[in-house]
Amino acid sequence: MIVLMAALDAHGLIGNHDKMPWHVPEELAFFKLKTLHQHVLIGRETWEAMESTLPQRHVHVLTRNPDYAGKPGYEYIETSLQKVIFNWKPQAQPLLICGGAQTYEQSLPYADELWLSLLPDTYEGTVFFPKFDEKDFMVKEQIRYTKFQFFRLLRKKKGASL
Ligand SMILES: NC(=O)c1ccc[n+]([C@@H]2O[C@H](COP(=O)([O-])OP(=O)(O)OC[C@H]3O[C@@H](n4cnc5c(N)ncnc54)[C@H](OP(=O)(O)O)[C@@H]3O)[C@@H](O)[C@H]2O)c1
Repeated sequence: MIVLMAALDAHGLIGNHDKMPWHVPEELAFFKLKTLHQHVLIGRETWEAMESTLPQRHVHVLTRNPDYAGKPGYEYIETSLQKVIFNWKPQAQPLLICGGAQTYEQSLPYADELWLSLLPDTYEGTVFFPKFDEKDFMVKEQIRYTKFQFFRLLRKKKGASL
């Protein structure tokens, strides 16, 4: 199963250059809870811009550089997005695709689920979640937290085939 996991502001903003536009500890704690002990795929730019690593997560870094030896803390290098998606899609265990924009954009057609944390405010920034047709998804779960709302969206029909 392929899951895209992202936090968005009211306008779909997800980043400000290489950083997150906000600091919302409640959402960070939620991200940790959802990703703990899971396999997460992260674009190389997001991985390097993160101030910390992701302990107790199986981190796959997406890069075109097969000799990548950047910021430590990852378990796997993935040089082909199509290949990693192809291998994971039939499995029940999710691959959590956690950004950034290039990574979301290319994997969105294959997403079985979107796990979106929606922040009610607007922030300054430059990077947006890719556009998607809400009609392709149904809301399976909706939870209101103090600082954000979580939506779990399931694709109605099968994702694009590889
Ligand atoms: N709000 C959120 O939930 C959230 C979550 C994550 C990130 N973000 C934001 O997203 C922004 C960063 O996104 P970004 O688009 O600049 O970068 P990114 O997707 O994190 O990383 C891009 C890099 O991934 C690798 N890559 C991309 N497509 C690939 C492919 N098909 N095959 C192999 N490698 C591939 C390339 O690495 P190489 O150059 O090494 O080849 C590319 O430079 C930041 O603003 C960040 O804060 C927001």
